Amino acid sequence: MSLMAKQRPDFDPDRRRLLSWFLNNQRPLPWRENRDPYRIWISETMLQQTTTAAVIPYFHRFLEKFPNLKSLAFATEKEVRSAWAGLGYYSRASNLWRAAQEIHQLGEFPQSHKELMKYPGFGPYTSRAVASLAFGESVGVLDGNVIRVLCRFYDLSIPWWKTIERNRLQNLSDQWAAGVDPRDLNQALMELGATICTPKSPSCAMCPLRLGCQGLKSGQHLKRPLARPRKAKEIWLWRVCLNAKNDRIALTQSHALPVLKGHLLPPGQAVKLKKKPKRYKFVHTITHHEIYVDVTTSLTSLKKMSTPVKWIPVSEISQHSPTSLIKKVVRFAL
Ligand code: ADE
Repeated sequence: MSLMAKQRPDFDPDRRRLLSWFLNNQRPLPWRENRDPYRIWISETMLQQTTTAAVIPYFHRFLEKFPNLKSLAFATEKEVRSAWAGLGYYSRASNLWRAAQEIHQLGEFPQSHKELMKYPGFGPYTSRAVASLAFGESVGVLDGNVIRVLCRFYDLSIPWWKTIERNRLQNLSDQWAAGVDPRDLNQALMELGATICTPKSPSCAMCPLRLGCQGLKSGQHLKRPLARPRKAKEIWLWRVCLNAKNDRIALTQSHALPVLKGHLLPPGQAVKLKKKPKRYKFVHTITHHEIYVDVTTSLTSLKKMSTPVKWIPVSEISQHSPTSLIKKVVRFAL
């Protein structure tokens, strides 16, 4: 059955129960203390791909260092990436820093998701989260938790990863956020997904949406949302050269590996293979990329490199590069 055919016109009783559950049960999270768009932006950026419990100490530390937009805008990129160390996905830190400069120049925080989308790092989720949570714009958010809650509530067996279905889910989320406080509603849906409507063993008996939940009624709720098909595995051989002196290693902005495009990496070359190579030092997996790494210490003449070489202290690598991979390279080279 199509998404629209299944959509119940009157979800208001369910929504009222959801809001009342949220107002009574929400976790006291530090970014919920006020509606400061800066705090909300930082927290929502940190919360992407990281759990709430893991984010809290980073959030406090980051805000101590950069308590407001101005302090972030006037920091150096290195300082911001350093405060981000441990959270991973360092491009998020660089984007925060770039966006802080642009927004500070603008003079005031943009208030609508459409405006926010113009700034580095503001995708559909972050823009909608900041616009609704900080400024009360009537838009819904769509993250993994909300997708799961909606697919179960409406018993949707849809390929939610495809743009057309995501747009439809976004539409549903917008409908849930319309006509109520979008700040509470959006956070309620996310909170429900994080604490009750969990992926493997949801606590349906405690769920405020259980009376209207179509997935629970059909017994298909554990099969919703559909599992996203895995991408075919790719095998890569990365021949990398580690140049080290005085506790520093030579890194250069690399485009050798598609999965790490633009990262600072030791110089090297990568080729895609049909099967696993015979000669390699170790294998490292990133998403569906199986990277076989062969490390030498004397292959590349740094003078001939077309991109500038940076000598980074080993102790600071985590601020610049995918740490676990580089640590392995260092371990296998020395
Ligand atoms: N996940 C990401 N942002 C959230 C928020 N503001 N509340 C609950 N869960 C979230």
